[in-house]
Amino acid sequence: MTTTSAQSTLKTLTDRLLANESSWGERRQAVHDIAELFASLGIYDIHTNEREIGAAVNLSGGYAISSWGAAMCLLEVKRTYIFIKGIIAAIQSLQRNQPNKPLHILDAGCGPFALLSVLPALYVEKGTATFHLLDVIPENIAAVKKLITALQLDDFFGDLYIADAIHFKWPKAVPLNMVISETMLNALRKEPQVAITLNLAPQLAPGGLFIPENIRVDLYAVNNKLNQQQDRTPYEQFYTTLFQLNKYTQFEDGITKQLAKVKIPEEFDCTQNRFMYYTFIKVFENVVLEYNDSSLNIPCPAIKESQQIGLVGKELFFYYEVTEYPGIRWRL
Ligand SMILES: C[S@@+](CC[C@H](N)C(=O)[O-])C[C@H]1O[C@@H](n2cnc3c(N)ncnc32)[C@H](O)[C@@H]1O
Repeated sequence: MTTTSAQSTLKTLTDRLLANESSWGERRQAVHDIAELFASLGIYDIHTNEREIGAAVNLSGGYAISSWGAAMCLLEVKRTYIFIKGIIAAIQSLQRNQPNKPLHILDAGCGPFALLSVLPALYVEKGTATFHLLDVIPENIAAVKKLITALQLDDFFGDLYIADAIHFKWPKAVPLNMVISETMLNALRKEPQVAITLNLAPQLAPGGLFIPENIRVDLYAVNNKLNQQQDRTPYEQFYTTLFQLNKYTQFEDGITKQLAKVKIPEEFDCTQNRFMYYTFIKVFENVVLEYNDSSLNIPCPAIKESQQIGLVGKELFFYYEVTEYPGIRWRL
């Protein structure tokens, strides 16, 4: 396949992924075809690449997943669809509001395909935006370098950094207009999304955008029957919003000030109900990922089942802690 046709094939597949009328099956086929296209260009073949290459690394604010894990993110149909759709909308919004060109966009944790930059670049007019790529795993940066050249997209890309986004300082004199980072698991566990946001958001130029715009974690009590029912409403009870992550979020000493205080009612039935964290991701404006839309939104247990019984009638304090193993914690 010639490089020009590789770029136009990728555009056709991305159009199919993004089209409003596409079914889930068509979107699924599109992301698989994109993976095949990248493999045919000799970039990163998710079926045959050795998984040991580009191993996961532990960092001060959470762990960076392996190259293979990051490549596989492409196949999470709705995650990929919604992120690409939201990023294109965010770029268009900045282009409308900020006459200075080109926009400078940093993709922090780009993975081996720099998916969140390469696909949006296909919808950007040449000279209006420059994507800079950063990943802590050297093999990912080597792979994206090859991919950009193979797709003849060099004009849309600036610098490539092998660096830790938790400590990275924007080195350029030009303003940083947008940061994109998808370095998270549901309930903001284990991966460094929070630490990366806390470092990079303050480096944005005025009016700059951090994508996702907001990540919210709520506490729900969930009845055991929830997953067997079409209508969830009678089986889940909202308690409180525990945490919101966006460009304004501030921490002290790696720990948020008290996030939320929750009293577990005396009548709470521990045999029927479980406390869970629900994660909502606003990629940009009304482009969102919600309950079970992707692995990032699967509810996860907040308190061990065996512990719940001893907590009835007590008050719990929830807080977020940035460590090598970050996450929401609670104490009495
Ligand atoms: C979940 S993958 C997402 C890949 C790609 N952005 C996408 O959405 O398809 C996260 C990526 O972030 C990188 N990463 C995680 N923590 C990082 C850090 N602190 N600094 C730089 N890169 C990091 C990992 O190496 C991995 O490539």
